[in-house]
Amino acid sequence: MRILYVCSELYPFLKTGGLADVSAGLPPALKAAGCDVRLLLPAFPALAHPALTQRWVAALPGGPTPWGTAAPALPAVEIALASLPDLDVAVYLLRAPTLYDRPGNPYLDADGKDWGDNAQRFAALGWAGATLGQGLDPDWVPDVVHCHDWHAGLVPAYLRAFADAGQPTPATVFSIHNLAYQGLFPRGVFHQLGLPEHFFGIDGLEFFDQVSFMKAGIQFAERITTVSPTYAREILSEPQGCGLDGLLRERAHRVSGILNGVDPLVWDPSGDALLPMTYDADSLQNKAVAKRALQLAYGLEPRADALVFGVVSRLTTQKGLHLLPQVLDELVQRGGQLALLGQGSACLEEALVAATRQYPGQVGVRIGYDETTAHRVVAGSDVILVPSEFEPCGLTQLYGLRYGTLPLVRRVGGLADTVVDCTPENLQAGTATGFVFEHLSAHDLRNALQRAFDLSQRPGDWRAVQCTGMALRFDWATAAQNYLALYCLLRPCALTEIGK
Ligand code: ADP
Ligand code: GLC
Repeated sequence: MRILYVCSELYPFLKTGGLADVSAGLPPALKAAGCDVRLLLPAFPALAHPALTQRWVAALPGGPTPWGTAAPALPAVEIALASLPDLDVAVYLLRAPTLYDRPGNPYLDADGKDWGDNAQRFAALGWAGATLGQGLDPDWVPDVVHCHDWHAGLVPAYLRAFADAGQPTPATVFSIHNLAYQGLFPRGVFHQLGLPEHFFGIDGLEFFDQVSFMKAGIQFAERITTVSPTYAREILSEPQGCGLDGLLRERAHRVSGILNGVDPLVWDPSGDALLPMTYDADSLQNKAVAKRALQLAYGLEPRADALVFGVVSRLTTQKGLHLLPQVLDELVQRGGQLALLGQGSACLEEALVAATRQYPGQVGVRIGYDETTAHRVVAGSDVILVPSEFEPCGLTQLYGLRYGTLPLVRRVGGLADTVVDCTPENLQAGTATGFVFEHLSAHDLRNALQRAFDLSQRPGDWRAVQCTGMALRFDWATAAQNYLALYCLLRPCALTEIGK
């Protein structure tokens, strides 16, 4: 079965969040499960530079479409098949220097504003995905096109237009990683997309008189997935539905949740070269080495008995970290410390940096994006904090579990699906893996912190909880099997050809 995987980020080359980790982890797991997978991404510099071109494939088609409109209004765009270092999956790169050859973030300019031509940039991705689905590369025609987030949302729309025009099309799966980012553009953009006129309507990609790429994916894909079962339920109503819950409810029979996995080649304390010393559940004393190194690196007093709370996160309202400054007094008074790595909202950055002055030696903050520090915070902390307002899946709590760093999370989305609260019953049953609180309030967060401090007074129990979490496996092989089952449902005839 041939799967074309369309996305906009890929670890370790280009990453703004968990989406990149998924693009690195899932396609190889699908390949291991017998699928013939190829990726399609825009040739952003971070991908274009390390890529080795294997062959030129095609220019994106212009001219009239089979449904009578003009093809999308785009500059010259070409597709090349390439390989990337240490990636065992071939990649179609979409080359259009005027669209993609820009430094930095794939979606935002240096001032943090959306690039003004994002509609065109990601329409090109949609058109490329759809035309590859139509056999633009005659050597490799996919059975399924699997599209990720709004960036790839137009693929199912174009493919529906091809299907309506009587052409054979591959199956489409659209995965929502974060419904809060929707790819919204002024309605005038619609006429540049080359879609059939009637696609701009309530049953199409119109959203409050704007064009929504996210809605296009949800409306036109045959199956919609999201990255945890709980989030798949939450988006069927407000507030998580972000205005699209009505449509999602209508299509609920096609919506499902498949949990993300962890790539053990990147996130595993027993082989993590970024740590001062590797460790596993049988050598947890080496985790103390990571803790001391983290305290020193963050300018924290190197007290072995301090409970260190770590954060590795985008600093956006999604992550609930605005609560943090409100609970720091108590956290520090109880002998705790904070080591935070993140970037995002300027006012949150300022508040956190101010806290380092208020609590010298107890609160350490690094503003920025840095893979190495991310690993060191996850390994060196005792607790990883993820108090999110909403969380489609969340990967940092999964990394925490694997590293014996107890997750402290809000009961929402994928966090609810992956962390088992340290209630007396769960502790007794040996299923507890972390601390879970209900409401997005400083009060509830404080209570959860309190429970973490209490458990830390019982080292035997703490260690047992660490070991339970470390033994869990959220692996990509399981996720790949679930996606494969979905693909087979849509294209049973391709089932016999797994491995083709
Ligand atoms: P989201 O995708 O919403 O940001 P996830 O938990 O799914 O949340 O994934 C976040 C990913 O980004 C993790 O791999 C995490 O380690 C990484 N990350 C987040 N912020 C930073 C940062 N400032 N520096 C390095 N890595 C970061
Ligand atoms: C999004 C979500 C996050 C999820 C990630 C990968 O960025 O915010 O919860 O883990 O995508 O699916």
